[in-house]
Amino acid sequence: MENKGLTDYEYYIGLMSGTSLDGIDAVLVDFASDPPRLIEAHTHPLPDALRQQLGALCQPGDNEIERMGRADIALGERFAAAAQQLLRQTGIPATEIHAIGSHGQTIRHRPDAGFTLQIGDANRIARHTGITTVADFRRRDMAAGGQGAPLVPAFHAALFRSPDITRVVLNLGGMANITLLPAHPERPVSGYDTGPGNVLMDAWARQHLGRPLDENGAWAATGCVNEALLTRCLSDAYFRQAPPKSTGREHFNTDWLAARLAESEHPHSPADIQATLCELTAVSVAEAVRQTDTDAAELLVCGGGTNNTYLLSRLEAHLDSMDVIPSNERGLAADWVEAVAFAWLARETLEARPGNLPAVTGASEAVVLGAVYWA
Ligand SMILES: Nc1ncnc2c1ncn2[C@@H]1O[C@H](COP(=O)(O)OP(=O)(O)O)[C@@H](O)[C@H]1O
Ligand SMILES: [Mg+2]
Repeated sequence: MENKGLTDYEYYIGLMSGTSLDGIDAVLVDFASDPPRLIEAHTHPLPDALRQQLGALCQPGDNEIERMGRADIALGERFAAAAQQLLRQTGIPATEIHAIGSHGQTIRHRPDAGFTLQIGDANRIARHTGITTVADFRRRDMAAGGQGAPLVPAFHAALFRSPDITRVVLNLGGMANITLLPAHPERPVSGYDTGPGNVLMDAWARQHLGRPLDENGAWAATGCVNEALLTRCLSDAYFRQAPPKSTGREHFNTDWLAARLAESEHPHSPADIQATLCELTAVSVAEAVRQTDTDAAELLVCGGGTNNTYLLSRLEAHLDSMDVIPSNERGLAADWVEAVAFAWLARETLEARPGNLPAVTGASEAVVLGAVYWA
């Protein structure tokens, strides 16, 4: 590391475990740089047993409080270990990190009922790392009447908004969300969850390939889109619902897919279904982008789904007037944007600045998000 003066850097750690349950994304960022400098990043594995426990908690079941309590501890320990690995890899001592922003693992997101729940005990993160930890970001927005999601748009605006070009940022996680960043400074930033991102494709690949994902969409590319199935999927009311809106595994899951498949008159090949699920993400995102009623010229793509080259080619096909560009080309690697966003949101919290955008979440006002667990 360079020998820097005390005021030359402002280190934060971001920890993100999203709906895909593919692992804990951990980043160490310097916010003294403009744009923020990503110093180190890695994906900390989720042991299979814990991944299964978390997946099971996403659906109603027996003895949930006991199972949640145990998973909360195990995941908190994993989050702490992910942060400690960043410190080891960089040689930066814990005392030089301002704070950790930990999103936690969503095990239930019910904006219709006014609650959302992210676990991964932040007491343990703060205790084991000796670093002040900010967590539980979403519920304060809900207390103000919002969806609690998406929360990344404020960060997208801080990082990617330009007076020269109107952009849409697309985050392709388990779910997909978009953020409209108008070039005109007086037009508001807007955004919402468009529906499934990778979650259905991942589930189908697991079921039929025995693999956690369809690498680069190669399997989907071998199939043919089944138009009848696609139409049935797109007829889901969520796609027509007006924003603000947010969704999760509670809605778009394997049961949801099974119900659409059960209505099919003819059996489809697994590869055709994968192609159709890929098209579902591409079409629902493209439709949402068009409905933002914008002259946006760039679609900046981030999240793990950016690696799905076939999905990106389908997005390009549906949005031919826009450039589809991985966020890597605009200053931040696609795989780490969301984890950096939660490091940034922790900083907003500690600076007592609001982190939600009422125009996005539907909250009655901008509020300071999160609970602080002091070192
Ligand atoms: N090489 C790849 N090919 C296809 N999909 C990929 C690839 N790499 C990552 N993904 C997708 O990205 C997902 C993880 O993205 P991520 O942004 O971490 O989502 P989440 O926030 O839901 O955890 C994986 O589950 C997978 O669907
Ligand atoms: Mg992930």
